[in-house]
Amino acid sequence: MTKRIAVVASGRGSNFQAVIDAIGDGLIPARCVALITDNPKAFAIERARRADIPVTIVDYTSFPSREVYEKALLEVMRQVNADLFVLAGYMRILGKDLVREFAGEMVNIHPALLPSFTGLHAQRQAIQHGVKIAGCTVHFVDEHLDGGPIILQLCVPVFEGDDEASLAERILEEEHLALPEAVRLFCEDRLTIEGRIVRIR
Ligand code: GAR
Repeated sequence: MTKRIAVVASGRGSNFQAVIDAIGDGLIPARCVALITDNPKAFAIERARRADIPVTIVDYTSFPSREVYEKALLEVMRQVNADLFVLAGYMRILGKDLVREFAGEMVNIHPALLPSFTGLHAQRQAIQHGVKIAGCTVHFVDEHLDGGPIILQLCVPVFEGDDEASLAERILEEEHLALPEAVRLFCEDRLTIEGRIVRIR
């Protein structure tokens, strides 16, 4: 059955675009019913408009506190009534209540091989640490920052002379494969979570 998915993004939205394209190509049995963004300047909004996807802006800066913002976001998420929420470059930490409400129904793409390099600037952290292999991870979201059960990971080499930008670009190409693939597996009902482990049927 066709699933309803909603994407939550803060910026450029190239991962969102990869999901839009995969749905358009018939690779994912889903309809994207909403883009939700905290940033009225996000280029993701333009991508949604081009694809006829309704946009809801929950402008973080227009709320008096984080708590009030989160309540508004939660309300919007309830209203879109999605089977799956896809965090695609959402650059804020979600509150515990919200994460609990959508447990098992929310995935995130992170530009590192978790559990290494959580949080912001993961590619910079990888360069500074001197790792030889980097990559991306799609995982279910739980109350630990970038810590939920891992669905898929793809890796890339780190070359001598790489900087944050060149590594980020190489990882991003893999993100554009990993995220639609993970969304597809979810939408085909092929994922089950057993504790920390995601089984793929
Ligand atoms: C992507 O590299 C994504 O993995 C990363 O932000 C970028 C968004 O790009 N997300 C995080 O760092 C989350 N902590 P996009 O807007 O072009 O998809």
